[in-house]
Amino acid sequence: MGDTHRIHFDPVDIEIEANEDETVLDAAFRQGVMLMHGCKEGQCSSCKSFLLDGDLQMGRYSTFALADYESEEGYVLLCRSHAYSDLDIELLNYDEDMIRAGLPVVTVPTRVAAVEAVTADISLLRLVVTGADEFKFHPGQYVDIAVPGTGEHRSFSMANLPRSHDSTLEFIIKRYPGGKFSALLADGLSVGDELEVTGPYGTFTLRAGSDRRIVLVAGGAGMAPVLSILRQIAAKTDFDRDVVFYYGARTEQDLFYLDEIRDLGSGIAGFDFVPVLSHVDWSGRCGMVTDVVDSCEDRLAACDVYLCGPPPMVEAGLAMLAERQVPQEQVFYDKFTVSAEADR
Ligand SMILES: Cc1cc2nc3c(=O)[nH]c(=O)nc-3n(C[C@H](O)[C@H](O)[C@H](O)COP(=O)(O)OP(=O)(O)OC[C@H]3O[C@@H](n4cnc5c(N)ncnc54)[C@H](O)[C@@H]3O)c2cc1C
Ligand code: FES
Repeated sequence: MGDTHRIHFDPVDIEIEANEDETVLDAAFRQGVMLMHGCKEGQCSSCKSFLLDGDLQMGRYSTFALADYESEEGYVLLCRSHAYSDLDIELLNYDEDMIRAGLPVVTVPTRVAAVEAVTADISLLRLVVTGADEFKFHPGQYVDIAVPGTGEHRSFSMANLPRSHDSTLEFIIKRYPGGKFSALLADGLSVGDELEVTGPYGTFTLRAGSDRRIVLVAGGAGMAPVLSILRQIAAKTDFDRDVVFYYGARTEQDLFYLDEIRDLGSGIAGFDFVPVLSHVDWSGRCGMVTDVVDSCEDRLAACDVYLCGPPPMVEAGLAMLAERQVPQEQVFYDKFTVSAEADR
């Protein structure tokens, strides 16, 4: 075991300890400090921070997440950083309420309770935690599921609400032919199989302190955490913010849970659901979901915007929101990055 060092985060003035054997991000999770993060494997740049002082080394990461010139200037990815001295780190992207609302990250055994196809390439996976420990999460968060027999894991967002009487976790997963985990949903996983789950992770959660209109934008399996947040909103009796949910899919056959969304919406006073199809002409909205948000929302800078789905959709959404001058602190997103070989 390596030495342990003190890590101080500016400007929030929080201190943790990190061992040389763990990443700074993992050390923070262990100590219940929920720093901004996404993929946790050097692919997405959500954890990008600035090293003010100290000595650290980074494991492999993608130069899409951290360009060479940024690393030369002192920018670092906390999910890849190991401390080799005490460190002072400036967080670039942070939310103080979220940092302090962190739930401890735990690993629990689960059993498959259901695997059901909901469209031609999306499945529902339901797991029940079998250990003695209750598994807590905030709506919108995700877990890492261990891929059986590989030593690898994949991240999936919960679509349901946390329940106190049992720990059920529901996921909406896009199946990729040959995908190490998702392809198992077609023929490799059965009810009763055991899967190990670690979490909760993620900062894509409802900021309840705001009174701004909420714009939810999802594509494909990005429906999962948005549905969880929508369920959370619908369960509140005193919720008085307007909510609009834009959902992007290719064709009408790729739309699902429409009745469920309508039911949830009927419990939210100012709710609107806008399905958007990219590959067919139909009576509803057509095109890329983020373009439709751009054309339909005239006061975006006065909204809180939640974006989730495949990386190209999220990146297009972030560019559009920057163009529309939506303040960064009103934008929340999870990018479903693919686990890939880092390029350095
Ligand atoms: C924070 C986070 C939350 C996530 N939540 C969800 C979720 O709720 N539901 C969900 O379905 N996924 C989610 N993902 C993505 C998920 O973790 C996996 O990356 C995805 O399921 C593919 O894993 P796999 O093992 O099936 O495929 P892999 O074996 O990793 O990939 C096999 C091949 O499939 C293709 N492929 C895989 N993923 C993609 C993609 N996104 N776009 C294009 N081609 C691809 C590629 O050709 C790839 O080489 C999330 C990712 C992150 C980072
Ligand atoms: S969380 Fe560090 S790059 Fe994605």
